[in-house]
Amino acid sequence: MREFTTAPADLAQAAALLRGGGLVAFPTETVYGLGADACNEDAVRGIYAAKGRPSFNPLIAHFADPAQVDAFVETPPHARQLMAAFWPGPLTLVLPLKHGTAIAPSVTAGLPTLAVRVPNHPVARDLLALAATPIAAPSANPSGRISPTTPDHVRDGLSEQIGGLVNGGPCTVGLESTIVTLQPTPTILRPGGVTRAALQDVLGCAVEFAGQTDHVQAPGQLASHYAPRVAVRLNATPGPGESFLGFGPDPCDINLSPSCDLQEAAGNLFAALHALDALGQPIAVAPIPDTGIGRAINDRLRRAAA
Ligand code: TXA
Ligand code: MG
Repeated sequence: MREFTTAPADLAQAAALLRGGGLVAFPTETVYGLGADACNEDAVRGIYAAKGRPSFNPLIAHFADPAQVDAFVETPPHARQLMAAFWPGPLTLVLPLKHGTAIAPSVTAGLPTLAVRVPNHPVARDLLALAATPIAAPSANPSGRISPTTPDHVRDGLSEQIGGLVNGGPCTVGLESTIVTLQPTPTILRPGGVTRAALQDVLGCAVEFAGQTDHVQAPGQLASHYAPRVAVRLNATPGPGESFLGFGPDPCDINLSPSCDLQEAAGNLFAALHALDALGQPIAVAPIPDTGIGRAINDRLRRAAA
């Protein structure tokens, strides 16, 4: 695996690697993505192989600029409102795929929709602009493992399997994007960096969370996901032989946020799980309020515990 800095000459080489069909991990504001040219079927299949990802779990296509998605997906008025309000940023929209686009079939795993996102990270945006093609990118972790928020996490999980890594330091949001579908009504398929309240404010209508019993619209929503190797216990106080992941002023091994700041806790979550996983002891996790971005934190914690 080649490592690239964020200097322009390095980014140009990373983009050339992508254009040549290579796999390149790169930072976004949410987590590190594992990118491939979304119009190159062989390259996209390489993503599934590198991650050990089930072939039925579709990928998000990343764009440098909101205007670029029009060539690939239908953008009804609600989509336009959300794009204007939250792009670039941690929001992914699942929209009807137009006919006859160059998107490789494996990106959508055969679905009639395409997930699209414009990340808000200067390195990601520069790399996407240089690549000059949509980039399919799941989180840059082996399938089912904890998502990567630092270059170290990517190196630990995938260095043998991929062509390059752009080192852009730690990710700021720390949780994956919120995924929203608009059909039949605005629905959150995966909670994330953009909250339900923020979505409702912009749309002026109710936004639901996809129910547990819905048929799986986002296969990444399978119960066991983001899982450490060790056992995880939620809403807990620490027991003997357990590591304690804290939230708030009480003593603990790693604190998500001593001041109970949910944004800070989201940013620290995956790095904390990686670090405690490495200690090899079961993890007890303090209760986290289920409001705002806390909803996304608890979603990831439940999957880690499943
Ligand atoms: O923040 C993020 O979204 C990160 C960064 C790298 O952009 N990416 C990410 O990708 O989290 P991934 O592959 O780990 O999660 C993508 C999720 C999966 O749950 C997948 O099932 C869902 O998006 N998805 C992709 N295309 C879809 C579609 N057409 N319909 C429904 N769900 C879709
Ligand atoms: Mg993922």
